[in-house]
Amino acid sequence: MGGRYIGIEMKVSLTVCMILCLTSIVHADQGKAVFFEPPYTPSACYGTQSYGNMVAGVSDALWNNGRACGKSYRVKCLGGANEAPHPCKNGNTAVVKVVDYCKAGCQGIINLSKYAFSTIADPDAGIIQVEFNEV
Ligand SMILES: *[C@@H]1O[C@H](CO)[C@@H](O)[C@H](O)[C@H]1NC(C)=O
Repeated sequence: MGGRYIGIEMKVSLTVCMILCLTSIVHADQGKAVFFEPPYTPSACYGTQSYGNMVAGVSDALWNNGRACGKSYRVKCLGGANEAPHPCKNGNTAVVKVVDYCKAGCQGIINLSKYAFSTIADPDAGIIQVEFNEV
């Protein structure tokens, strides 16, 4: 009897997970990512306070008048955005915290720290196509 109940409960949580997990895949956005060299401070969000190496600036599409500050994004390299043939490092994703604003004229939607960029792609590429979602 108890076993049957646990079975149903597992089915319910599996179903819930499937729906939530699919939703998070559907909600992933795509855009271009560039990078900038250290030092990663001062930043538009936090001034001289450092939040480490896994940080990024976002352009107007995500900046939302500074409300983007402190949000975390999981960023996945999808491919090159210029002639560099295979910049992605085998499916790696990076989770970065938004600390900066990438001003109008920003060539990407996300401006990653070079450190974060290097974990998902070869910096020689300069610019890559990425998929990202807030985490
Ligand atoms: C990326 O951010 C840095 C630091 O804010 C900035 O100097 C640089 O111009 C940005 N890169 C691009 C392509 O906009």
